[in-house]
Parts: sequence; C-alpha cells; structure tokens
Amino acid sequence: MIQNEMLQSLEALLSAHGNPVGHLANTAAFLWELLPDINWAGFYLMDKGDLWLGPFQGKIACMRIATNRGVCGAAFSQDKPLIVPDVHAFPGHIACDEASRSEVVLPIHALGKAVGVLDIDSPLQSRFDERDLAFLNQVVSLLERHVDFFQCGYDLLTTTGS
Ligand code: SME
Repeated sequence: MIQNEMLQSLEALLSAHGNPVGHLANTAAFLWELLPDINWAGFYLMDKGDLWLGPFQGKIACMRIATNRGVCGAAFSQDKPLIVPDVHAFPGHIACDEASRSEVVLPIHALGKAVGVLDIDSPLQSRFDERDLAFLNQVVSLLERHVDFFQCGYDLLTTTGS
C-alpha cells in the first residue's frame, strides 16, 4: 500500500466509532502490519510527570519512562521528533527488546502541549529516514485530530510528579 492510501485507511479507522484507547491500539496494529522491519510500535502517555506505557505491538515493554531518560524522554522533553540510527550510541537508551538497533520517536500534542509519544523500534540499524518521519508526522497529525487523548485515563497535563 502506498503511503497516501495508508493514511486514508488510518483516517477511516480513526473516524469509526470507538474509544480513544481502542483507536491507539488499532493505530499500533496498523503500523505493525504495514511497516517492514520493525519490532515494536506503540505509545507512551504523560501521567503526573512520567511517560507511561500505552497501547502497543511487540514485546513486553517498560511501564514507566522518566522524561529525562531514553529516546522517548528526550523526544518528549525536547518536544521534537528524534531518529536514532544506532540505539547503542544514544546515551541512556532504554532497551526493552535487546534486538532493537534503531528507533524513531515523535511527540504527540493536545491543547498545544506534548502529552505523549509514538515510539517505533527496528532490529535493523538506520531503519528510519526523513521519508519515514514525514509519513509518521502525518500519522501523528491524524491522531491529534481524531483521538481525544484526555479520555485515555492518563493525567496528561500534570507534568510534575505526585
Ligand atoms: N527504547 C525506548 C524505550 C521504550 S521501548 O523501546 C518500547 C527509549 O529509549 O526511550
């Protein structure tokens, strides 16, 4: 499927009646099925100062990521997408699956603030490039438009610990 068709299919999925957690779960499954050479795809959402595991596909992952840790924490706190061609060269990378070699993480926004991240891992080094990032930026835009993140059960806007 070419990328425009993929985005149209995803928009149709996200426009269907359903709850936001279900939409995130389907988005993770959608990326998992369509992107070659990945070993994890899913979400971490802010809750009281840390990023907490959300819907995903792949191996069991760490439940909580501090915003000063890992690629997810870096992308969230810098509020910018990060492509990491070699995770072993990224200081503080968190290895949920030791097979992971490269990673891309994009912040997700609601009410103008970063409230979580989309995280995708690959067992191949340098798997992700600017074309992937452009596509995933559009995926995140669709999510920001169609998913009410405030209904996911996370305390998204409280960014300090309890
Ligand atoms: N590698 C991520 C942790 C999450 S797992 O990859 C699913 C990181 O360094 O933030």
